[in-house]
Order: sequence, then C-alpha cells, then structure tokens
Amino acid sequence: MGLRLGDKAPDFNATTTIGDINFHEYLGNSWGILFSHPADYTPVCTTELGKTAKLHEEFAKRNVKVLAVSVDPLAQHLGWVNDINETQHTTVNFPIIADENRAVAELYDMIHPNASATMTVRSLFIIGPDKSIKLMITYPASTGRNFVEVLRVIDSLQLTANYSVATPADWKEGEDVIVVPSISTADARLKFPKGIEEIKPYLRYTPQPNL
Ligand code: BEZ
Repeated sequence: MGLRLGDKAPDFNATTTIGDINFHEYLGNSWGILFSHPADYTPVCTTELGKTAKLHEEFAKRNVKVLAVSVDPLAQHLGWVNDINETQHTTVNFPIIADENRAVAELYDMIHPNASATMTVRSLFIIGPDKSIKLMITYPASTGRNFVEVLRVIDSLQLTANYSVATPADWKEGEDVIVVPSISTADARLKFPKGIEEIKPYLRYTPQPNL
C-alpha cells in the first residue's frame, strides 16, 4: 500500500550533495519538503531547483527544510548544480539525494512505471515537525511545479496547526480564514478576538489570526 496523508514519513539514510544524512535527523524539529525529479541535466528540473533555491528565505522563514531526490549519481548532481547556479542565477542551498539504487524513490513510490520505467515522477511531500505526511502532490515530468503554491499550502498547514483555522479556495496570505467545524461559534468568538462572520452555522470566517 502506498503512502497516505497522516502516515509517518519513512526514514532513510542517503548520500547527498552535502554528505551522508539521515532524513529524520536532517529534518530535526523543522517542517520538511521532499521532492523528486525525473533526472539530472533536464530542463524543467533545472528551473524547479533554481526556483526552490531562490525561495530559500521564504522556506527558512517558515522553518522548512528542503531535500531533493534524483536517481543519478553524486558526481553528476555536483556538475548539474553548477549548471543550475549558472543558468538560474542562484546558488542551490539545499541537498540533493543521489538515489542511484532508487531506495528513496521506491520507499516513497516515486516511480510510476506506466509513466516511465526508469525516471521518477515529480512527487512532492510536505512533512510536519511530527514527521507525519501533510501533503502529497504528483506532477508529470513535463510540468514544472508551482513553488509559490507550495509555500501557500505550508502557510495554510501552519495556520491550521497553530490556530485551528482552515483556508478557503484560492486563499492568499492576508485574507480571511475559516473556523474549523470542530469549534462552536460561541467558542470561536472567544478564541478569535478579531471577530467572527457567520455566513451559515458551518461557514464562519475570521481575519487571519497571526497578523
Ligand atoms: C525535464 O525535467 O525537463 C523533463 C524530464 C522528462 C520529461 C520531460 C521534461
């Protein structure tokens, strides 16, 4: 059976561009992103890793550690990182796993044989500080992921974890959020001093609580 939301993110040891690591130790108490790439020296992956590097401050602000997976050897990763830095005008500042034996790819079900027998699809996992899987997305090799959306999901997950609120469709930072159904409107009025707008008993908005 594949991984599901809420499952514990499987731990592993791996060789990476910053040396050998243990996944859970690398994450420590941080949030984590583990994301796979079809192969080194491919154009879409090059832009994705460049974009992720450029968003370093945004991930750091949210206490998120990033870890990429590619099933190519370490020497190849190191050469590719030079290309990414040059072409994307950045410095790759997170490790890339050299998953030559596909141990991580298989552990996280990143190879979908009907898409490609050899390359990983674009899987992305967000992992909470408790090491549970909070989000999984899977994109095809030909579509680069939207890392601004990934940050938006992290913001939503962190609001839920810290304030018991959910975020509506297309929510963006600064917009009103939704009181989770498990909180009564009476309790919500006490918990959210900025106010509650009750559209329906089950649909209650409040200003974003951490602003
Ligand atoms: C890419 O990363 O650019 C890519 C990889 C496989 C198929 C298509 C694009």
